[in-house]
Amino acid sequence: MDVQFMCAMMVSRLLLSYALLIYNTGFSAGDIVYVETGASVQLNIQREKLPAELDDIMWKNERSQNLVKYLIKSNDVKPHSTYIDRVDFNTETFSLTLKNMQKIDSGIYRAIASSENDINIAEHKVSVIDAVKAPVLTVNSIWSITEPCNFTCTADNLTIINYYSTSCSDEVKSSGIYNLNLKCTDDFIICNYSNPVSWKIDTKTLQQLCAFNPDDNRWWGCLKSEALT
Ligand SMILES: *[C@@H]1O[C@H](CO)[C@@H](O)[C@H](O)[C@H]1NC(C)=O
Ligand SMILES: *[C@@H]1O[C@H](CO)[C@@H](O)[C@H](O)[C@H]1NC(C)=O
Ligand SMILES: *[C@@H]1O[C@H](CO)[C@@H](O)[C@H](O)[C@H]1NC(C)=O
Repeated sequence: MDVQFMCAMMVSRLLLSYALLIYNTGFSAGDIVYVETGASVQLNIQREKLPAELDDIMWKNERSQNLVKYLIKSNDVKPHSTYIDRVDFNTETFSLTLKNMQKIDSGIYRAIASSENDINIAEHKVSVIDAVKAPVLTVNSIWSITEPCNFTCTADNLTIINYYSTSCSDEVKSSGIYNLNLKCTDDFIICNYSNPVSWKIDTKTLQQLCAFNPDDNRWWGCLKSEALT
């Protein structure tokens, strides 16, 4: 089979190449509640800590602002003036929903139930972070069917270098809460970059990155990396 012809076909397929960008928002990992910038977060109380006698419930942030004050007898909800459009308080569950979270909103949130004494009924460490940037999957083989199909999966400061012959080994690299995950199937190479609030992938078919040699049933190098960018 003509390798040059196969490679030329791959270049045209690359023009149709796509990157799937999918992400989820907001969930907790360990003690920290991670929230994507701009998203909402719901903070719940620990019901078992509620005292029998209860006058009011207050949600506070680290800056001593009372985000919401709920006076039980009068069923009166008082949001902080600077949070009026951004908080929802549920008078049944006493949970607090904060909307349009920004990085400056990161910090510790507490709920306090008061009667004769103050009782801490919730404490959440909230961290607002951006969605990850898309990773990039590039081939770094030379134009040759005798060179391995080497490729690089990279995002921010993480890089995975690997190659495909009859398969490739899955690999993960981490930096704090950021993970770069390489996965290979019989047809695809998937580069997946994630943090607790989001993930994005760059996925390419083997035909886009490598050349198949039917004589030995292996995938070999094909395009120069420049051809992919
Ligand atoms: C491809 O990877 C193999 C194995 O890691 C290495 O020996 C070779 O030098 C690499 N070739 C290129 C062109 O990067
Ligand atoms: C790597 O990048 C992430 C995301 O931008 C950053 O949070 C982290 O501090 C960086 N790590 C190093 C070692 O530079
Ligand atoms: C990418 O990684 C995230 C986090 O591990 C995972 O939830 C998601 O399903 C992965 N996506 C794909 C397409 O494998």
